[in-house]
Amino acid sequence: MTVPFSLTPLLQYIEQQHEPICAYYYDLDYLAQRARWISESLPQRVHFYYAIKANSDTPVLTTLAPHVHGFEVASLGEIHKARQASSGTPIAFGGPGKTQVELQGAIEADVELYHVESELQLVRLNALATKSGKVVKVLLRVNPRFDLPDATLQMAGKPTQFGIDQDRICDVLDSLPAYSHIRCVGFHFHALSNNLDARSHLLLVQSYVEVARSWQRAYGLNIEVLNIGGGIGINYTPGGAQFDWPYYCQEVERYLDSGDFDFPLAMECGRFVTATMGCYVTEVTDIKVNHGENFAILRGGNHHFRLPSSWQHNHPFQVVPVEQWSWPCPRPGVSQQEITLCGELCTPKDVLAKQVTVDQLRVGDLVLFDKAGAYGWHISHHDFLSHPHPHRVYLHDNHLCQIDSVIAGTN
Ligand SMILES: Cc1ncc(COP(=O)(O)O)c(C=O)c1O
Repeated sequence: MTVPFSLTPLLQYIEQQHEPICAYYYDLDYLAQRARWISESLPQRVHFYYAIKANSDTPVLTTLAPHVHGFEVASLGEIHKARQASSGTPIAFGGPGKTQVELQGAIEADVELYHVESELQLVRLNALATKSGKVVKVLLRVNPRFDLPDATLQMAGKPTQFGIDQDRICDVLDSLPAYSHIRCVGFHFHALSNNLDARSHLLLVQSYVEVARSWQRAYGLNIEVLNIGGGIGINYTPGGAQFDWPYYCQEVERYLDSGDFDFPLAMECGRFVTATMGCYVTEVTDIKVNHGENFAILRGGNHHFRLPSSWQHNHPFQVVPVEQWSWPCPRPGVSQQEITLCGELCTPKDVLAKQVTVDQLRVGDLVLFDKAGAYGWHISHHDFLSHPHPHRVYLHDNHLCQIDSVIAGTN
């Protein structure tokens, strides 16, 4: 496994540290390049949003802002982060639990688009918009009734807390004239996460368009945008085939050109944008044999990087050997053996890779987990056991900026 960016600045940075290291390392130049590639391969009629829940660090958002049509957010906190990083980038506000305070905050922040997930959200939003004298634009988030392709997570196409049941959309459309300060400008679908198959994703998009077209015809709606969600996957299996993005973009373009509709689409990707721009690196602090199996303990774990235990997968990693050893005893290690990589927490769930074979792994070596830029730090329970937080360092213009290197207790 090799990460798609240079590790040299990170390794130099690590050499200067005195404590066992634990760090997120993000390459902003690589991220800018990737964002450009993603947006330039999409047809012009597809607006590219970044779902900031995947990684909402300010340097990430400022890097992405010039390359995206907008940011998709899911809380008032994310609205503030998005506005702080780039006051001019449009915001689409989703999420099933928007409170009155959040909606009010969104109106004050002049959020451009609301993804409405229930009839009560419409009522609340209309009341607040009326009070503020603003007309707000909404997309109705649909929980579709048709079959969906396989993916790691499924948010819709089955009973879930997300969106409005497809069977209720006609009732909601009938009720729209009652909302004086709401302008419904389309629909929103985000049904799954981590789809690795471009063909099935394309069929999904076509199903979304067909359903939206049927409502457009029945209600004479002026659809300004149809948001087809995110969900483009990253294959975490070493050597596994990645989502065929060029093929997908080419086929979406062909479909748009041949279709009998002229509204634009929007995509709101998270994982696909930021996963590969970051890694999580940790030092091995101990190695032991228990009940005949090898275990490595890492400085860090799922309080920093919850994705592997959340998805119950072996996260891809590489070992970076460190030759220094200063303890007055033989250096514990294994070679050509299976070992389980565990974090430092007091729970057997804190496993980042289980029974994986390594050429060599010794206490003091570094383990570098690849594809950790999305849903890594940002989905983790940082303060369980009150360990220090990892360093978070960014590479930009060949310089490391430790914009956000924080230690627990000081942030
Ligand atoms: C509404 C919504 N849009 C977009 C995304 C981004 O999904 P992904 O990272 O799979 O592209 C999510 C993630 O959960 C989401 O909930």
